[in-house]
Amino acid sequence: MTLLLLAGTHEAQQIAERLADAGHAAIASLAGATQSPRPMRVPSRVGGFGGDTGFARFLDEAGITAVLDATHPFAARMSDRAARLSVAQGVPYCQILRPGWRPGPSDRWTMIARAEEAAAHIPTGATVFLATGRQGLMGFSNLRGRRLICRVIDPPDAPFPLDNGEFLVGRPPFSADAEYALFKRLNIDWLVVKNAGGRASEAKLDAARGLGLPVAMIERPPQPDAMRVTTVSEAMEWVRSL
Ligand SMILES: NC(=O)c1ccc[n+]([C@@H]2O[C@H](COP(=O)([O-])OP(=O)(O)OC[C@H]3O[C@@H](n4cnc5c(N)ncnc54)[C@H](OP(=O)(O)O)[C@@H]3O)[C@@H](O)[C@H]2O)c1
Repeated sequence: MTLLLLAGTHEAQQIAERLADAGHAAIASLAGATQSPRPMRVPSRVGGFGGDTGFARFLDEAGITAVLDATHPFAARMSDRAARLSVAQGVPYCQILRPGWRPGPSDRWTMIARAEEAAAHIPTGATVFLATGRQGLMGFSNLRGRRLICRVIDPPDAPFPLDNGEFLVGRPPFSADAEYALFKRLNIDWLVVKNAGGRASEAKLDAARGLGLPVAMIERPPQPDAMRVTTVSEAMEWVRSL
């Protein structure tokens, strides 16, 4: 029995550790989005599968008997495909999806469905911290007249694609104190955040709350209608139940 662990999250790292400790046969798959990802404790492959056909072939050729999808809540294409094709090939599928963040009483969040909607809420002249990563940056091209600072994990290999912005390199995890100091030093007026959920990247929201900063919160894309758990322990339960 060989499990395919679709990775790219903190939970995937934790699951890989537990699988390795349990001696469970597994292959972890990373998209290759970051240049030097933390090594996984189970054998890994890196890079896209090559669309639906490539994924279906991989399941077959690697003798995959179950798929545990621990991709990011915004990796909608991969999750949709993995759920669809696993079921079609009779391979059990389960998604681990951490709960989304919810605003507390003192939070100043504006929920938006897409990056493009941020411009309707963020005033001209604002300095905006984009905690959304490099992908999808062009969705903010209508934020003209605002200064954009986009945090990325790897040093950029190309200039910022918009003339009103810059990259800031930083590798998580970040503490709330460090985020607070950073937003203060950069004179941030607004944050744009994807509703990823989870403790690991929540520090920016703690800091925004402390500073009274408004947040444009991008809501999650639709998730597959499939077996789902929310914690690493539940995911391991599912693996044991197979
Ligand atoms: N989106 C985010 O905000 C975000 C944040 C943090 C981490 N991540 C991680 O970064 C990766 C890419 O995210 P995304 O939003 O670009 O995903 P996506 O839009 O759902 O997928 C785009 C393409 O990337 C490849 N891919 C995605 N996840 C993969 C995996 N685990 N193993 C192998 N190939 C994978 C597939 O390429 P092919 O079509 O060639 O098979 C897929 O079609 C994911 O693993 C995700 O967990 C994403």
